[in-house]
Amino acid sequence: MNMKIGVIGSGIVGQVLATAFLKEGYEVMLGTRNTSKEEVVKWKNENTSGKTGNLSDTAKFGELLVLAVAGSVAEEAVKLAGIGHFKNKIVIDTTNPIAYGAPVNGVLKYFTSLDDSLMERIQKLAPEAKLVKAFNSVGNAFMYKPHFPGGTPTMFICGNDDGAKKTVTDILTTFGYETEDMGKVEAARAIEPLCILWCIPGFIRNQWTHAFKLLKM
Ligand SMILES: NC(=O)c1ccc[n+]([C@@H]2O[C@H](COP(=O)([O-])OP(=O)(O)OC[C@H]3O[C@@H](n4cnc5c(N)ncnc54)[C@H](OP(=O)(O)O)[C@@H]3O)[C@@H](O)[C@H]2O)c1
Repeated sequence: MNMKIGVIGSGIVGQVLATAFLKEGYEVMLGTRNTSKEEVVKWKNENTSGKTGNLSDTAKFGELLVLAVAGSVAEEAVKLAGIGHFKNKIVIDTTNPIAYGAPVNGVLKYFTSLDDSLMERIQKLAPEAKLVKAFNSVGNAFMYKPHFPGGTPTMFICGNDDGAKKTVTDILTTFGYETEDMGKVEAARAIEPLCILWCIPGFIRNQWTHAFKLLKM
């Protein structure tokens, strides 16, 4: 039986992943601070089998959660959603710690250092959540069943719970990705900056249509 999915965050990533899970037959609630927001109403009209709700109702509803809010407010959003609702649940963490301010020659600024990551901060805030970093280093247009001439793209993931990573790997396979497990939560220090790298061709050459692939012997 498919799990109920609670998507915390109604931006483009939340909408794309919520729609993808609906297409795969899951029950989905898209969570926002304001269910009357134009884009949330539009999403609901276009996805009649999907639900919308506030952050707390969404976190309670979801047996598996997707965290898809701006990185700068990720901890605040988890608190608003209710830390207790994250207990023992798999949480796909799509967030990036993008700081305010324009990119420098196409290079985004982060509010974390290389000895820290947003995922670790969220994991500390919700220690019983089974966080898995995923979907952070590819554009939303390619998160679900992308077709690249170069083959199946790679999604780099990490997290402390092996069972959670297995579940997320199965989801990623369905969504059209091969998965590379980079280990525990600290690996987010390397995975989150991949978003900086992914965005550079976009900012300097307006090229946004690529994804990472790991080549192995
Ligand atoms: N855009 C992409 O293609 C892409 C790709 C990979 C990863 N990501 C990452 O995915 C995450 C979501 O990105 P996005 O582009 O979809 O949207 P975003 O603009 O980064 O975030 C939008 C969401 O953040 C929520 N939010 C804003 N302020 C809040 C607050 N004070 N408290 C709680 N929630 C708040 C909004 O909630 P309300 O609905 O309540 O207004 C909205 O749902 C980001 O961390 C981003 O770095 C983005």
